[in-house]
Amino acid sequence: MDEFSEDIWSGLRSEPKYLQSKYFYDVKGDALFREIMDCPEYYLTRCEMEIFQTQSTTIAKTILSRLTEFDLIELGPGDATKSIYLLEAITTQNASFTYFPIDISENVIDQLNLNLPKRIPGIKVEGLKGDYLEMLGKMNGKSARNKVVLFLGSNIGNIPLDETADFLKALKSCLSPGDLLLTGFDLKKDPAVILAAYNDAAGITRQFNLNLLQRINDTLGSDFNLSHFEHQPEYDESTGACKSYLVSLKEQVVHIGSRGHIHFKAGERIFMEVSQKYSADQMDTFAREAGFSIVSHYFDTRSWFLDALWLAE
Ligand SMILES: C[S@@+](CC[C@H](N)C(=O)[O-])C[C@H]1O[C@@H](n2cnc3c(N)ncnc32)[C@H](O)[C@@H]1O
Repeated sequence: MDEFSEDIWSGLRSEPKYLQSKYFYDVKGDALFREIMDCPEYYLTRCEMEIFQTQSTTIAKTILSRLTEFDLIELGPGDATKSIYLLEAITTQNASFTYFPIDISENVIDQLNLNLPKRIPGIKVEGLKGDYLEMLGKMNGKSARNKVVLFLGSNIGNIPLDETADFLKALKSCLSPGDLLLTGFDLKKDPAVILAAYNDAAGITRQFNLNLLQRINDTLGSDFNLSHFEHQPEYDESTGACKSYLVSLKEQVVHIGSRGHIHFKAGERIFMEVSQKYSADQMDTFAREAGFSIVSHYFDTRSWFLDALWLAE
C-alpha cells in the first residue's frame, strides 16, 4: 500500500505525468486483461497460443536435452493460458520440476495455486507474489537447482526500449551458467494491425486503462472522475513503441486522498504503458549483450510473434 501510494503520487507529480503499468493488475484488472486476450483485435495471444499449442513438445524436448531437473519460473504468468501447454508437455516427458509463477497480482498467484493442480495432476506449484527481479533474486536462496525462466506474452515489451538491456542483464545476474530463458517478443508488422490491438472496438482496453484510476480512487481515496479522461493509444512505426495514454478531457483538479491535489490541463496526458514491437535481429543483440547465447527461435505461421530460447553463459 505504501509503495503503491508513493509510486502513484510521484508518477502524477512528474512532468510528463505517468503511472506504472504493473498496477493495472488487481482482481478487476486481471479479469479485464483476460477479456482483452479474447478481443478479435488482440492478435498477440492467438499468435503465441499457436506457438505453444503446436510447438510445446519440441520446446520441451529442447529444454530436457539440456536439463532434466530444474525450477520452472514464470515471470508475470497471468492465467498461464499459454504456458500450460508447455507445463503439460514437460510433465508428459517426465522431467522433475517445480513451477514457480512470480506475479505482482496476488489474485493471479491464488488462482494458479488453486487451479493448476486440477488441470495437471501431480504438478508442484509454489506461487510467489511480487516484482519480477526481486522475487527471482530471492529464488537463489531457496533452491540450488538450475532455472528455466519463462517471460511470455511480450511482457518484456512493457519495459521501455532504453531500459531493456539493463533489465536483461539484471535478469541474467539472477541465473547460473546453463540456465534457460524463454521470452516472447511481439514483432513489427502492419501499424494498423498493431494499433487496433490496443484500441479494440468493444472498448475493453479503454476500461482496462481507466480501471487503474478507479483502483487509485478505491485505494487512496482520490476523486478521479473517470468520464473526464479518455484512452488514447499511438504507435510509432520508426521506434516500434506502441504507447497508451489517458488524456484529460478538460482542465481539472484531482485530490489524491491526504497526499494533496494534482492539476490537469485540458488535453494533458498520463502515460500508462509501452508495448514495444521488435525486429528479430534486435533480440539477438539483446541476448548477446546480456550474456546469453541463442538456442532456438519459435515463430507462429505468420511470423508475427517470436518466442526465443536463450542459454545463460
Ligand atoms: C499483460 S499480462 C500477460 C500475462 C501472460 N504473460 C500472458 O502472456 O498471457 C502481464 C502479467 O504480468 C504481471 N506483472 C506486470 N508487471 C509485473 C511486475 N513488475 N512484476 C511481476 N508481475 C508483473 C501482471 O500482474 C500480469 O499477470
